[in-house]
Amino acid sequence: MDTSNSSPVLPISDLLASMVSDVQAGLGHARQKTLPSTYLWDDIGSALFDTITLLPEYGLSRAGERLLKAHGEEIVSRMSAPLAVAELGSGTAHNTRWLLSALCRRQPTTYYAIEVSRWALQRCRAELATIAGLTVSEIPRFYLEGLEDAVGRLPRSHRLLVLFLGSTIGNFERPAADVFLGDLRALLRPGDALLLGTDLQQSEEALLPAYDDARGVTAAFNLNMLARLNRDLDGDFDLRQFCHRAVYEPRHRRVELYLESQRLQRVRLRKADLDVELGAGEAILTEYSHKFDAYEVTTMARRARYRSVAQWRDALWPFAHTLLVPD
Ligand code: TRP
Repeated sequence: MDTSNSSPVLPISDLLASMVSDVQAGLGHARQKTLPSTYLWDDIGSALFDTITLLPEYGLSRAGERLLKAHGEEIVSRMSAPLAVAELGSGTAHNTRWLLSALCRRQPTTYYAIEVSRWALQRCRAELATIAGLTVSEIPRFYLEGLEDAVGRLPRSHRLLVLFLGSTIGNFERPAADVFLGDLRALLRPGDALLLGTDLQQSEEALLPAYDDARGVTAAFNLNMLARLNRDLDGDFDLRQFCHRAVYEPRHRRVELYLESQRLQRVRLRKADLDVELGAGEAILTEYSHKFDAYEVTTMARRARYRSVAQWRDALWPFAHTLLVPD
């Protein structure tokens, strides 16, 4: 196993500097206060998300797993050998193992796990340890920097299958998703491919509980962002004075997640040199989860110069995997 690249992504001071400027921009003067969703994903956030994937309300993750279990073999058969796999935000790679074991039955495989949570990388290593012929190369970086790193390490003779699963593309605003897919496309060569997971539209009644579950795990996941900011920016958010809210916004076909202030309060973030006043009922936007229709995935991909070669849809939860190649 290759664990040599275990140095931090950026010097810690740079990470802190970008967190400070993000938080100042999001909470400072904006009329709608926001916090970037990337700060959901510290170790505790990743562990809570892992629990979300077990919830009865959150069918999305099981749909992705069923698809990889049923079609992993077919996906890899569509790619020429030798093939390596890179995943953007590997998490614990629980679902990915189906595809990797199908591929390892054909050839020894290198898997580049691009993931910013150390906790998730450790779990990923454990999850995949039993697959014979698999080398896990851990890349603790953000998506595209990590992919660039993986492409740099890839032997010339190898093709690359990039995985972007779990409908993470839906967490971008639509114009930003186009830009992201275009930037990713620029790192691919002929013969490479992208497997893209997208959550599809369904009724609000079925969808919203996936983002507001009865046990309150998604609420804890969202609130954890404030605990993280307290820790990293020496802040004094009182988590008990905020409530998790999930709203479906039909105009943009997305779920929006908020942290709603329960009273008029003032919060100080010392390392950002920031005092924030929040009114009773004022909500901080923390995440979008856009929903797609199956046709839209193809047109979005076409705008970013991909051709769609196959799509698989789950029968129980509206979710699709689409295999895209650079056009
Ligand atoms: N991309 C997945 C989704 O939109 C996972 C996810 C990202 C998520 N941020 C989230 C799930 C916030 C719940 C809450 O569903």
